[in-house]
Amino acid sequence: MGAGRARRIAVMPGDGIGREVIAEAVRVLSAVDRRYELGLEFEEGLVGGAAIDATGHPIPEQTLALCRRSEAILLGACGGPKWDALPRERRPEQALFTLRKTFGLYANLRPATVSSPLLTASPLRREVAEGTDLLIVRELTGGLYFGAQSRTGRGQETAAVDTLPYSAAEIRRVVRKACEIARGRPRHKVTSVDKANVLETSRLWREVATEVGRETPGVTLDHMLVDNCALQLVTNPRQFDVIVTDNMFGDILSDEAAGVIGSLGLMPSASLGEQPPGLFEPVHGTAPDIAGKGIANPLAAILTGALLLRYGLDHEPAAAAIEAAVHRALQDGCRTADLAGKGPALGTAAMADAVLARLH
Ligand code: NAD
Ligand code: IPM
Ligand code: MN
Repeated sequence: MGAGRARRIAVMPGDGIGREVIAEAVRVLSAVDRRYELGLEFEEGLVGGAAIDATGHPIPEQTLALCRRSEAILLGACGGPKWDALPRERRPEQALFTLRKTFGLYANLRPATVSSPLLTASPLRREVAEGTDLLIVRELTGGLYFGAQSRTGRGQETAAVDTLPYSAAEIRRVVRKACEIARGRPRHKVTSVDKANVLETSRLWREVATEVGRETPGVTLDHMLVDNCALQLVTNPRQFDVIVTDNMFGDILSDEAAGVIGSLGLMPSASLGEQPPGLFEPVHGTAPDIAGKGIANPLAAILTGALLLRYGLDHEPAAAAIEAAVHRALQDGCRTADLAGKGPALGTAAMADAVLARLH
């Protein structure tokens, strides 16, 4: 351990490939910890299906207690076919909502950058994909995910209702966060994405976003309808700098953005509130189709480790060191199966080894 006190990181691998990729992310974080004497201390907690199997609950109190005394939370992914039939409150995914709400993690940052060695991994033509460097800021504790849900009637008469509530205050804080982040990026541009031609919450979103944009000097904020944004992401992704949007739109657009950069296995995320702990997880899920095969791409999880260092521990040099090592591995042609096309592919651990070997 270095000069400072121990910094506890709650490590919650969860299910499926979450377990495989988090093991590699921890290996890389441990190497950076030694190099920069960060004093990290990893403590494992149960979450998701793994927690249900062990305790009957997707997020046991013990796990929440671990998170409370940690500086940051590193999470793999939760869910899978084994638990799909469970009622809503007992599903593995419930753990994510509990964590997001308990720690007030309203701003979810999901960066999508087409790095030069991966230009050919994007399904888009080179001239369309080249230079893409955007950040989706997804509102994470409101909207459809947390509105009242209900079901009535039976048989052909059954009906279900989801509701989409947003307050001006919830919108304001996440748009402010997006503007703040945009100020620190070269283009200072925010695109607020909504469906203001249909939804009342989106009309409120647009009003509040416009106000926040006016209040933030040096940032230009414009608006785009979500269906057009889905189109623009695949026809002209380079136009975007920071995109700020609601919970559901952000979920969908971020998987689309992952497609643009070449794989869901490349996209990390940081979920932040007013104070620590933040939660750091790859954008992808448990990938039941490839789980247990040792072929999942660990880079989203490894890059999530970099976001943990940057936003969770405020250690930019250590974060940048991980990102540079990933870049070098890709530049040297290291590819997992999702990126390799017909070429040779590395397994999960071998890809992490390639990153470790290039960590200076
Ligand atoms: P998914 O993200 O697990 O997989 C979508 C596709 O991307 C699959 O073909 C998968 O093989 C591929 N993929 C994902 N990550 C990859 C990686 N690192 N390397 C290579 N390929 C990768 O989404 P899904 O299949 O819709 O969901 C599976 C389960 O995961 C569901 O139970 C869902 O609820 C859960 N899920 C959890 C989280 C989370 O915990 N944050 C996020 C998304 C989905
Ligand atoms: C994500 C996931 C989750 C979400 C699911 C698993 C509940 O898709 O983090 O993107 O929709 O928020
Ligand atoms: Mn998602």
